[in-house]
Amino acid sequence: MNLITLDITNSLRGKANKGGLEKKSIYRTALELEQYNKVLWKDPYGFMGLPESRFQFDMIKRLAGRSRRQKIKNLVILGIGGSSLGTQTIFEALLHPFHNYGDSIRKGLPRYFILDNIDPHTINRIVDIVRKEIDHTLLVVISKSGETPETISQFMIFKRLMEKSKGFRERIILITDQKKGVLKQISDKEGYDVLNVPEGVGGRFSVLTPVGLFPSAVMGIDIDEIAHGAMDMSRHIRTAKHTHNMAIVLAAILYLMDKSGRNIHVIMPYCARLSGFADWFRQLEAESLGKGSCGPTPAKSMGVTDQHSQLQLYVDGPRDKCIMLLYSAREKRLIPKTFPYIDGLDYLAKKDLNGLFHAELLGTTLSLTEAGTPNFTILLDDISAYSLGALFFLYEMAIAYLGRLYTINPFDQPGVELGKIYTKAIMGKAGLEKQKKAADRILSAPKTVITF
Ligand code: PA5
Repeated sequence: MNLITLDITNSLRGKANKGGLEKKSIYRTALELEQYNKVLWKDPYGFMGLPESRFQFDMIKRLAGRSRRQKIKNLVILGIGGSSLGTQTIFEALLHPFHNYGDSIRKGLPRYFILDNIDPHTINRIVDIVRKEIDHTLLVVISKSGETPETISQFMIFKRLMEKSKGFRERIILITDQKKGVLKQISDKEGYDVLNVPEGVGGRFSVLTPVGLFPSAVMGIDIDEIAHGAMDMSRHIRTAKHTHNMAIVLAAILYLMDKSGRNIHVIMPYCARLSGFADWFRQLEAESLGKGSCGPTPAKSMGVTDQHSQLQLYVDGPRDKCIMLLYSAREKRLIPKTFPYIDGLDYLAKKDLNGLFHAELLGTTLSLTEAGTPNFTILLDDISAYSLGALFFLYEMAIAYLGRLYTINPFDQPGVELGKIYTKAIMGKAGLEKQKKAADRILSAPKTVITF
């Protein structure tokens, strides 16, 4: 079996699927991207060189090795958006689903906490947990800009906790820009070990840098295998012709779906381990393509869970969606003949849960297709460090091609930056007095509210 298979059958127009695309138009757009591909690799975007360059791998491994010798019990990761979603994806895919629950499950690895929010309710409870084992806590602070208020405020809280502990300096690691930002200033002054986000690589394209790979190495995940998978995918994308190029065809389909009114792109993994990947994709597509009043709206659903929550809408609701299914299920679990006296359970008894899972996927694709909701499936033979590396790179490239098709810059995020500026202004940051005034004016305008 192939490692990754993209099956676009149900997104093509046919008798069974009136909402689908003409194969011709997919290949026409793909051909356009093939021409672009030839030029692109001569002057590649920053993230495209990461699988080969293995940026700072030696230092990642050295620092991860040190953390193992330090007998770390808690790995606390501070970061948000592109600085946390990659790690979350890798951990959800490759670690035990109940990793934090017990020593026997973790097999000597630390617990992990990825703090991608600042709700004090959560922060207070994590502080309570970590405080008790502060001598065995590794703090990893990740921010490309080194200025994001959520991450910096968390760092201010956790640094205060950590500094009471002996040797804490060796248990704080910063991952940030090489040249600028508050985190860099702090590390210059206080002497923490620093890993970097390479120049030209933005947050949501940084999973294959220390941002995603250092926390992974601490957890004993084989980062060479992640890079290896990404490298093999890179080779495929660089060389395969347009009709057989997975990233190009994926980009063409997503683009044409949007242009034909299917502007909601639902990603629906039938694989619990890819739940994090769906969140990662949601950010990648939304922040990269939501520009100039255009861009598709990504949404996440989980198979089979959301068959009982969202599928009705996808089958019978507005004709504005295409569904991208991801499937991987190798493991087996026999369903025993537990209730022999009940008629009508033979269709389940002595079958495998794996077979039911697959039947559910097929049931969903059939109902979608019959209703005219285009859908396509990415089948993964295996969830491994290697396949995850390949998958990350596949989608990053698809988004780069989509940037070309939409004629927008997929690598900036002015809307996100504006939100950060207003937050800082409202909190009273010096130099943002004009923005503070504007914010005050809007916030003090009369409100329309209902109270209970
Ligand atoms: O993809 C992006 O650029 C953003 O989502 C950032 O990752 C996010 O805003 C966090 O920024 P930073 O890493 O600078 O703290």
